[in-house]
Amino acid sequence: MKYNFDEIINRKDSHSIKWSNLEKTYGDKDILPMWIADMDFKVADEILEGFMERVNHGVFGYDYRPASYYEAVINWVKKRHGWDIKKEWILFTPGVVMGLNLAVVTLTKKREKIIIQPPIYPPFSGVISRNERAILTNPLRHNGEKYIMDYNDLEKKIDNDTKLMLLCSPHNPTGRVWAKDELEKLGEICLKNNIIIVSDEIHSDLIFKGHKHTTIASISEELAMNTITLMAPSKTFNIAGLFTSVAIIPNKEIRDKFVKTIEILGIDHNSTFGAVGLEAAYNHGETWLEEVLEYIEDNLDYTMEYVKNNIPKITIDRPEGTFLVWLNCTKLGLSQEELNELMIKTGKVLLNDGMTFGKEGEGFLRLNIGCSRSTLEEALKRIEKAVKSLKN
Ligand SMILES: Cc1ncc(COP(=O)(O)O)c(C=O)c1O
Repeated sequence: MKYNFDEIINRKDSHSIKWSNLEKTYGDKDILPMWIADMDFKVADEILEGFMERVNHGVFGYDYRPASYYEAVINWVKKRHGWDIKKEWILFTPGVVMGLNLAVVTLTKKREKIIIQPPIYPPFSGVISRNERAILTNPLRHNGEKYIMDYNDLEKKIDNDTKLMLLCSPHNPTGRVWAKDELEKLGEICLKNNIIIVSDEIHSDLIFKGHKHTTIASISEELAMNTITLMAPSKTFNIAGLFTSVAIIPNKEIRDKFVKTIEILGIDHNSTFGAVGLEAAYNHGETWLEEVLEYIEDNLDYTMEYVKNNIPKITIDRPEGTFLVWLNCTKLGLSQEELNELMIKTGKVLLNDGMTFGKEGEGFLRLNIGCSRSTLEEALKRIEKAVKSLKN
């Protein structure tokens, strides 16, 4: 291994949302933060070198996105996902959640229905309700082994007001990496009902062994023309703070509308360092990614074993990708409030509240394992201590 992911880097003084303000919010500075989805690892040397070179230049006026920026995206998407995309399909968005917002305001009118599949990353419902559109929930179903899509429920609920689907692929928080046939079936339903798909593929580079990410737009020409794909180097390379993402839109009519919204809002300009970071990451970050994936998968093995052996009342479906683990705590028999309080007050560990992912997340917590092994060990010990403090 070239990189040492065991290294602990103090993030408390770096304005990190994950690590700062714990004392202010929870009245306890010793809380271990295992929530929000960024990693505690230092980025690839090649990204740092890209930044340094630009810093040494010393002038930071307005930059445009050069051809090399688009080539970096095209080459990465081809190499990692086998999808051939064209330069003109690629639009800049300042963050993936902004991409979701842009799609919602561009492609739907107030009160029209937009499909989501809870439990789901909270901004999916937030972007719909804040823009005064209607949320149509098509909850994932658990088949005893894993979460699956419920196509019957979806077909039953779709009506003429249903215009858009926000797909999370891979899925946060469940860690499902949707198989090609699952996406084909979903795609068929959307095509049949004239529902445009917005596929948030921010986690698509973080896939564990034995699984393969399929970009839904790459399945067929019809799906390419019906899909907006949102991608970013942010989760992949731990550079979420750069807010540099892309929307890939092969359909010119949809793309032109999207561009118009970007112009209306005046958000076409990326930061200098966003572009530098994206290019450095996609062009030179692959070794780091391969290594970090191995480290995270080892962390996952450790978590699965530890929880099975020491906290058997918590159960986990092994995630197929992402660095997030969805802890099923329903057997503890606590309300969500009690569960959150148990972890904060007794465990002194901060996890994401399952209910923020929708009512389908009741009794769950989300654990971020994108951290050094020693941090993870400490977090699991704290969760164990909290659970064992319960009588019976
Ligand atoms: C599925 C998903 N989409 C989007 C985001 C955030 O994207 P951004 O910070 O680029 O808006 C996250 C972060 O956790 C995520 O999990």
